[in-house]
Amino acid sequence: ARDVSRTANGELQVAGVSVAELAAEFGTPLFVVSEADFRARARDFKDSFDAAFAGLCGGVDVYYAGKAFLCTAVARWVREEGLRLDTCSGGELAVALRAGIPGAELGLHGNNKSDAELTRALDMGLGRIVVDSMAELHRLDALAVSRGEQANVMLRLTPGVHAHTHEFIATAHEDQKFGLSMAPDPAAGGVSPAAAAVDAALQAKGIRLLGLHCHIGSQIFEPEGFELAAKRLLGFLADIKAAHGVELPELDLGGGYGIAYTEADTPRPPAEIAQAMAAVVGSTCTELGLAVPRISIEPGRAIVGPTTFTLYRAGTVKTVRVDTADGGTAERRYVSVDGGMSDNARPVLYDADYSAVLASRTSEDDAVMSRVVGKHCESGDIVVRDVYLPADTGDGDLLAVPGTGAYCWALSSNYNYIARPPVVAVLDGAARLIIRGETEDDLLARDVDAASVRSPESL
Ligand code: LLP
Repeated sequence: ARDVSRTANGELQVAGVSVAELAAEFGTPLFVVSEADFRARARDFKDSFDAAFAGLCGGVDVYYAGKAFLCTAVARWVREEGLRLDTCSGGELAVALRAGIPGAELGLHGNNKSDAELTRALDMGLGRIVVDSMAELHRLDALAVSRGEQANVMLRLTPGVHAHTHEFIATAHEDQKFGLSMAPDPAAGGVSPAAAAVDAALQAKGIRLLGLHCHIGSQIFEPEGFELAAKRLLGFLADIKAAHGVELPELDLGGGYGIAYTEADTPRPPAEIAQAMAAVVGSTCTELGLAVPRISIEPGRAIVGPTTFTLYRAGTVKTVRVDTADGGTAERRYVSVDGGMSDNARPVLYDADYSAVLASRTSEDDAVMSRVVGKHCESGDIVVRDVYLPADTGDGDLLAVPGTGAYCWALSSNYNYIARPPVVAVLDGAARLIIRGETEDDLLARDVDAASVRSPESL
């Protein structure tokens, strides 16, 4: 977060609240979100894209991708900063409903939406349902017709762009589960699944086809992938105009903007990306003789990721000798913390890198190469693979791991029956609980085989 500094006695503080106060009040592990930083990053996306596209299509609708991290407080911040909200399940819609977000400002994604989710979307009057397949288009059409309504639809296409990112989070090349392929299908007389879906959507009585959508991956630094995807989708809009005589009014270019987890990552500011994309969209529309469609984007990570750090308490420290590549040996120090892969699965899932700092104090000691590990019964339970921490880092110290706002709490689990941590928002010297931590009662609440509960004596 941008509002992080040290107090006079060397404690890390955010928005004027010290980590010792946070740990004393809320315990550890703890997710700490800077509300001002979240709002500033949300506004930066909105303002930068509005400015870049102002002369082209009047502005841009920015949908915050709730999958990165969502709760009612965050949904309200998003709305207050002028953004919309992208959801991908009935559960995320339930959060939006509880937060009072109007349906017209919501989108719904998913490659396998249930009828219950589609019905909920229609009940809430969703601004857009992003349809992922022909089968879903038919189901949604039938549902809408049975209610005497029209559903607002975007079609998700796969433009065949392979953004440079980890394989598991690249979602627009052909061999994956999402979206309608733009590649001609020999089995369908050379018609692509995307073209077939557009034909069907334009004819369907229950569908109001607003436009096209694509999402090419996540944690992307270079604008070229976004530009190429935009060009391909605009080309497809021109094909639709030629075939059907209609210019679809909207184009969504997805999310995926990368953030800095370590110093090796070099993200571009939203303004720079927005200008590059506006230039490509503007010139491509001119070449194709198209009016510039209303543009939307769906950033998640780039808004929430940097706003949050996880506060852990260090416990056991041990040092081992490891063999080095040159035949020698070196020391590796393991610093265990009171959380791990249940509150941050990304190192295990994606080999993700993080950093860590000693948060409860400063130290004059030399920095020692350390590995921060969790408390789960699994040797892959690594929080930070390699980080220099002061030699005297040890039992009782607080460690902060920055950049944990996106896909950490959201991906958290109860592995080893460990409770999910609380989330607090800090603003102007005050901390406010926005998600309470789980208790042991929560952990046991869904274990309903009451008949098996016996006193030790009766066994
Ligand atoms: N729109 C769609 C349709 C998406 O599928 C996603 C992310 C986003 C927007 C937001 O992408 P962002 O701006 O946050 O990169 N769990 C993985 C990331 C999965 C991304 C899934 N889709 C991770 O922790 O890296």
